[in-house]
Amino acid sequence: METQSITIRRPDDWHVHLRDGEMLQAVAPYTARQFARAIVMPNLTPPVTSVAAALAYRDRIVAAVEEASGFTPLMTCYLTDASDPDEIARGFEERVWIACKLYPANATTNSAFGVTDLRKLQPVLERMQRIGMPLLVHGEVTDPAIDVFDREAVFIQQVLEPMARDFPELRIVLEHITTEEAAHFVRDARTGIGATITPQHLLINRNALFAGGLRPHAYCLPVAKRERHRLAVRAAATSGNPRYFLGTDSAPHVREAKEASCGCAGIFNAPYAMESYATVFDADGALDRLEAFASVNGPRFYGLPLNESSLTLERTDVEIPVSLAAGSSAVVPFHAGETLHWKLAAVG
Ligand code: DOR
Ligand code: ZN
Repeated sequence: METQSITIRRPDDWHVHLRDGEMLQAVAPYTARQFARAIVMPNLTPPVTSVAAALAYRDRIVAAVEEASGFTPLMTCYLTDASDPDEIARGFEERVWIACKLYPANATTNSAFGVTDLRKLQPVLERMQRIGMPLLVHGEVTDPAIDVFDREAVFIQQVLEPMARDFPELRIVLEHITTEEAAHFVRDARTGIGATITPQHLLINRNALFAGGLRPHAYCLPVAKRERHRLAVRAAATSGNPRYFLGTDSAPHVREAKEASCGCAGIFNAPYAMESYATVFDADGALDRLEAFASVNGPRFYGLPLNESSLTLERTDVEIPVSLAAGSSAVVPFHAGETLHWKLAAVG
């Protein structure tokens, strides 16, 4: 008989955008009701580049979720051309931030302050390697001459492979992988390299962007690729390989900012993230590997304890709302208007 319910250790989200202000208030509870911990991206305006800013942001996140959720935000440092190795090391030693985030300048939302020349980052990467602080990478080149669908694969060749060689002990996470090249790079790389995988890159290919018309809510960066790539990423996630772990990249933008002549990149998948992942693992006959992907591989990579609490999903239909309130506006969730067949039943 098919599995009707599954209980796993409570999962963590190793890559999420919680924003600030009224959007933070609206979206943080969705993450906190499922995940025990989440790595929070630092691409606010202005970006989180100092220990003091990270501490203040952490306090705002904690204030935005219910204490009973037991949720712990894990903070990150946004790298710029001016990043100071001493400030970064201090924040890591004081356990304020868990990792640094590398955005190539202008690769995506709020990345204008990102790194323009990796050579300027050598002292920072050396220090991170020495103290064992992970580097989280948005892996896309920004050269407008490179086709947008090739930017991840080219980044791996031009930037990531040399970096992994030049800093042989640096712990690196290639975030939100979307291609066969990325899945295979991570699988075959030296030790100390991992990848996060989002629900959308397991569930949609690039056709979703153009299904019957232009679909702004299917647009995120890195953009969804061809079906061949989706299948490779899906095989990676469900393989049980400890190098792959859950990172939603949930990235809310108000409806007006998505449905615009120049719509923002980002898919808001937090409200039904575990339902999305369960759908994938169930369809691929891999429900027995969901716990490793969602709750074990990430903490092992980061050297953190496994969560002792649990989360239960049941095979029950759940209708996804067409939009959710976010302060004075609304956000459209991933799967809006669809019915999923797994439902979060309990967290305890
Ligand atoms: O689609 C995306 N949205 N990709 C990113 O890398 C950033 C994110 C955001 O902050 O909106
Ligand atoms: Zn992201």
